[in-house]
Amino acid sequence: MRLDVVTIFPEYLEPLNVSLVGKARARGQLDVRVHDLRHWTYDRHSTVDDTPYGGGPGMVMKTEPWGDALDSAIADGYEAGAREPVLVVPTPSGRPFTQEVAVALARQPWLIFTPARYEGIDRRVMDEYATRMPVHEVSIGDYVLAGGEAAVLVITEAVARLLPGVLGNVESHQDDSFAPGAMENLLEGPVYTKPPTWRGHPVPDVLTSGHHGKIARWRRDEALRRTARNRPDLIERCDPVAFDRKDREVLSILGWAPEPDGRFWRRPRDVEE
Ligand code: ADE
Repeated sequence: MRLDVVTIFPEYLEPLNVSLVGKARARGQLDVRVHDLRHWTYDRHSTVDDTPYGGGPGMVMKTEPWGDALDSAIADGYEAGAREPVLVVPTPSGRPFTQEVAVALARQPWLIFTPARYEGIDRRVMDEYATRMPVHEVSIGDYVLAGGEAAVLVITEAVARLLPGVLGNVESHQDDSFAPGAMENLLEGPVYTKPPTWRGHPVPDVLTSGHHGKIARWRRDEALRRTARNRPDLIERCDPVAFDRKDREVLSILGWAPEPDGRFWRRPRDVEE
């Protein structure tokens, strides 16, 4: 997969040299190119922003540097044999970035990121490139960052670990929390490793019992408990046919009840942890 990032802070993308993404680059599974937007400015101050039309606070990133930088990155990519570029625009106004979006992006051969600073990029830039390629505006959460670079790091890591051969164990992401297409998306429960007792805290007995059925059931109960506590919205969204008798028992102990038609589970009211 080829990744291009156009930014005014190339050094912000240094973490792409480290850990999983860094190793994927070293192995040639990821070809990452970071471009300095200011390289495509032609005035003494390397200006990339200007005041917004219509007034208002803040500054807007100018069309010309973005257009020239993207044209150059795109031409370079095609020359290197990359095909079917997809533009990924990190912005708090975008669609939520979810595991499903990560899976869809991981199937693309070429992603071009445009992390913005200030109040964002002049709209005409996205309109122009949307005539040539798919454009995805994505938000990594309901908060406003100072710029899109941190979002690029987040998206890249989520996508890179899905690429074939990047994670050691092929099955590692099949049971991820939020794996798309599942009837239910439960959070993963707690995990433990040696020693068997640490500072008086023992590992739950069941995990050392060697009884695979009991271990699987315990893990599922813990996943249900954790999801009900931390992400009740995920329980509500589950297809209720995914819940077996024991699941229903656990949820009922946690104060959940089915809707009258039996289809949807209702989160407990007035229950404080
Ligand atoms: N840029 C600023 N805030 C952002 C967010 N929440 N997601 C993606 N890009 C952003």
